[in-house]
Amino acid sequence: MKRIVVLISGRGSNMEAIALRCTEEGWPAQVVAVVSNRPGAAGLAFARARGIEAEVVDHTAFATREAFDTALADAVGRHRPDLVVLAGFMRVLGEAFVRRFEGRLLNIHPSLLPAFPGLHTHRRALEAGCQAAGATVHFVTAELDRGPIVMQAVVPVRPGDDEAALAARVLAAEHVIYPLAVRWFVEDRLVVEGPRVRHRDGASQLLM
Ligand code: GRF
Repeated sequence: MKRIVVLISGRGSNMEAIALRCTEEGWPAQVVAVVSNRPGAAGLAFARARGIEAEVVDHTAFATREAFDTALADAVGRHRPDLVVLAGFMRVLGEAFVRRFEGRLLNIHPSLLPAFPGLHTHRRALEAGCQAAGATVHFVTAELDRGPIVMQAVVPVRPGDDEAALAARVLAAEHVIYPLAVRWFVEDRLVVEGPRVRHRDGASQLLM
């Protein structure tokens, strides 16, 4: 049984999708803890209601980024995770954290990486006149929003879209590809070859 720890900062809808799918589909895994850097994160209530340990490591309580990182890494490490899932976790993690969990640290980013790393991806995609947008699940490396790509979802940008409309369309796709990517990880179906990731049995890593 693989132990999954999910890090969130807010709503936690990706975490929810992963936890539900994990139980419903009987993955060889369990979400053992949800950790938030924000005490008010809505996702904590979902976790508690489902009997998942929910913990807060409040970044505002630490004087430096390094001190927060160390406390967070220790909190996560105590749960002995096989996989750490960043799901709407809005703090940049330091190199020490990333190195400690490297190879078992996944993130979802709401753009078609390497386009639009960082914040406000939907606004930037609209401003750039993109015809397509999407989301990317990737292994986390020390470089922000980079790292081997596990899966991408492409959604159309429609005439009249505003940020909220595009974000909602992308989020619905996130809820499909993130659980799938996590499932593949816990089932040992992902093969990382340098900067690339492939599915052992050749399943499509693109959702359109
Ligand atoms: C998602 O769009 C995710 O890609 C981004 O932040 C959002 C988090 O949503 N990093 P939720 O907390 O999973 O509902």
